[in-house]
Amino acid sequence: MALTCTDLRGTLPLLAQGKVRDVYTLSSDHLLFVATDRISAYDVIMKNGIPNKGKLLTALSEFWFTTVLKDVGLNHFVSSSMEFLPEKLQKYSAQLKGRSMVVKRLKIFPVEAIVRGYLTGSAWIEYKKSGTVHGIRVPEGMVESQAFEKPLFTPSTKAAQGKHDENIHPDKTAQLVGHEYAKEIEKLSLALYTKARDYAAERGIIIADTKFEFGLDEDGNVVLVDEVLTPDSSRFWLSSAYRAGRSQDSYDKQFLRNWLTESGVKGRPGIVMPDEIVLETSKKYHEAYELLTGSEWKET
Ligand SMILES: Nc1ncnc2c1ncn2[C@@H]1O[C@H](COP(=O)(O)OP(=O)(O)OP(=O)(O)O)[C@@H](O)[C@H]1O
Ligand SMILES: [Mg+2]
Repeated sequence: MALTCTDLRGTLPLLAQGKVRDVYTLSSDHLLFVATDRISAYDVIMKNGIPNKGKLLTALSEFWFTTVLKDVGLNHFVSSSMEFLPEKLQKYSAQLKGRSMVVKRLKIFPVEAIVRGYLTGSAWIEYKKSGTVHGIRVPEGMVESQAFEKPLFTPSTKAAQGKHDENIHPDKTAQLVGHEYAKEIEKLSLALYTKARDYAAERGIIIADTKFEFGLDEDGNVVLVDEVLTPDSSRFWLSSAYRAGRSQDSYDKQFLRNWLTESGVKGRPGIVMPDEIVLETSKKYHEAYELLTGSEWKET
């Protein structure tokens, strides 16, 4: 069964609800992130969910935080274990176990720290029009999905819910967060992306681009927050299917997108996915987890 919505009966205050995650205030300095099995495509959330998706994505974020990216700066991860949670939450383990994560609550910088290794999506659209990516000049004659010589830091504003983020030139980050933090965020973003990209490449996955968020801790450190390097926050491509000069299939959502388009319901709210689409999509999340972590998924 998929879990599409959490309900802790007022035990904790709900701080925010995103497309996928329900975020609760655990204490003055900790938050509880709960990744549901909700899935969105073309900006709308489906009515039914993908069983285990929230657990797989939580486990994947935890994997990056605690292994590959552990030594690239600080991150907000504290624990994903039920034992860490207070007694009053234990009775909600069916909703929380395996899909929740305690993190340090930080002051979030108002910038989406996007790193792009490949020319695709909105960057490709801008490049075709003006030869630039977020206003940065890039070499002429590049084709769609081609790798940049070096990854680009291409931030965007962090828009309020329901609004679209706006792509900005990296130099404009300083106006949002100040010069010193802007430099630090760019440096960390590129280092994190490069480390993850090289790791994933050896396992058959291209991380075409990704989005990081950062917060500030009480000691003035810039800390990696949010989810990291999941199919929801990144563009993954299968290396074996990759070919430059055309668009690439979405790693996890291609079945769903095709079905929505073919059924003429793309962009319509309240859509129920048929079992077959749920199953195919679910397989992709399992596959991403297993390829990247190198270990078999075990349901907790
Ligand atoms: N350690 C942290 N401390 C405080 N806030 C955090 C921390 N980590 C992440 N956040 C914030 O928590 C929120 C998580 O929201 P979530 O990503 O679920 O939804 P959203 O960003 O509003 O929408 P979307 O579903 O499109 O991502 C984000 O605003 C993020 O900046
Ligand atoms: Mg978000």
